[in-house]
Amino acid sequence: MQLISGTQIASQVLEECQREIAELAARGLKPGLAVILVGDDPASRAYVRSKDKKCKDLGLHSVKVELPATTTQDELLAQVRRFNADPAIHGILVQSPPPKHIDEAVIVRAIDPMKDVDGFHPVNVAKLALEDPTGFVPCTPLGCQRLLIAAGIETDGANVVVVGRSMIVGKPMALLMMAKGKGANATVTVAHSRTRDLVGVCQRADIIIAAIGRPEFIKAQHVREGAVVIDVGINRVDAPGTEKGYKLVGDVAFDEVAPKCRAITPVPGGVGPMTIAMLMSNTIKACRQLG
Ligand code: GUN
Repeated sequence: MQLISGTQIASQVLEECQREIAELAARGLKPGLAVILVGDDPASRAYVRSKDKKCKDLGLHSVKVELPATTTQDELLAQVRRFNADPAIHGILVQSPPPKHIDEAVIVRAIDPMKDVDGFHPVNVAKLALEDPTGFVPCTPLGCQRLLIAAGIETDGANVVVVGRSMIVGKPMALLMMAKGKGANATVTVAHSRTRDLVGVCQRADIIIAAIGRPEFIKAQHVREGAVVIDVGINRVDAPGTEKGYKLVGDVAFDEVAPKCRAITPVPGGVGPMTIAMLMSNTIKACRQLG
């Protein structure tokens, strides 16, 4: 069984980023990322903090805006528009999910598609479907694909089962894996909460990508001997007696699934660090394209 280290592969991606940042600096350019968080969800705060820190570590320009949960939709739109107009900002990310009174679709559509490093704007969703390389692919699916390539997993003609159909992961993941090219060319099935015989569907997979957001949902029975499992889940579950009072587990019951796998990603240290690395990579791409 091969343990796919996202931490290690992410650091390779970040080394590439450093080289590109140096090239851009020689042309007088410095990529800038704006991250906006509305509200005080602890997990979202932790993600936003680590995105901001990684930017600063790499020497990118980073602006973090933390707005109270009472922020109105118009106030948030005004903030997005300020960043659209700011030439020092090349990437804009509004942490999802926002509080319930905010219509996320409206916010996403207000972001300049050229600065939409999350790849959530309809223009970028279309570019992914159209295989237009100028678009932005959402960071988590892009990170999963990069993990598969770096770990030497053959995707060409493989049966890939994506479990989950979210706009952030499942749907773009499926588009990416079915596209033409390296780390793609797969036969893709998208399974979700309404899928009949999920166990049977998963058992036919050469590669399972678990992105349902339910702790340890994928069990040994879902996985055929020799399959590859990519675990996108980051779930906080109670862990009484520990310092934080919780621990992070994936969407895969790692201990029972891992012995059956040819390769598997751990949680933490799998997909998580890749998501942040691909955000850096997308921000650099935005800077290059905006010039
Ligand atoms: N929430 C969970 N993942 C993501 C992501 O990749 N981008 C944003 N903006 N919010 C998220």
